[in-house]
Amino acid sequence: MSNRGESSFVKLPKFAAKQYDKMMQLEPMREQRVQIAEILILQINEGTLLDIGTGHGRLLIEINKLNPKIELYGLDISQKMIDLAKANLKNINANLQTGNITSTNYGNDYFDLVTCTGSFYLWDAPVEGLNEIHRILKTKKTAILFESHKEYNESNLKEQIKRNLAREGFINRKLVPRFLKKQLKMTYDIKELEEIINSSLFKNHYSIQKITLVNLPIWLKIEIKKE
Ligand SMILES: C[S@@+](CC[C@H](N)C(=O)[O-])C[C@H]1O[C@@H](n2cnc3c(N)ncnc32)[C@H](O)[C@@H]1O
Repeated sequence: MSNRGESSFVKLPKFAAKQYDKMMQLEPMREQRVQIAEILILQINEGTLLDIGTGHGRLLIEINKLNPKIELYGLDISQKMIDLAKANLKNINANLQTGNITSTNYGNDYFDLVTCTGSFYLWDAPVEGLNEIHRILKTKKTAILFESHKEYNESNLKEQIKRNLAREGFINRKLVPRFLKKQLKMTYDIKELEEIINSSLFKNHYSIQKITLVNLPIWLKIEIKKE
């Protein structure tokens, strides 16, 4: 087990959670969540959906707008993030709880869809996390993880970030690229991801596809299926 950063989220102060939530309300971030929600609702008409590392919970809001029949669950290791998510989702029926994905209290074969955005790369025990997803996911159902990768063209990325943030203020034009840079430094490469998945109960039952979200060429859609 390595220290990848989840412990800093356990102790995340309230002001840092609020600052992150503020950044995530910028239009390109909102649009990115809408694009993710649009992908997810193609997988599920009704039933249970879990967002791991839900943070501020705003992805659940977009999913609810597109399909209010889906039963929403959000998990996050940070109590402060879950407090924020509860406030953000006060008008939506969602089960939000603090916890580590390596060991949850959800039942076996409970979820129709499990998802996660920009959180997997932070888990200290990724194989255990995947094995827990395997336990709580229904048989023949998939989990879709949205994670970044390192095989992008630097100048293309810079250009696109600039375009996406053109209407934002000076501070956000500095802050957002810095945050992304930090994430991309830590993110796994595709070979590492394959090794992790093949060490878990999802061995050989996955696909990894490079996608763009808000035209950013850094995203992966990782689908893992419980057979
Ligand atoms: C970069 S934020 C992403 C938040 C949100 N998904 C988004 O796209 O804006 C990563 C989140 O993952 C959570 N996290 C990190 N490790 C976790 C773990 N092992 N189990 C559950 N949540 C975790 C953090 O607390 C944090 O809220």
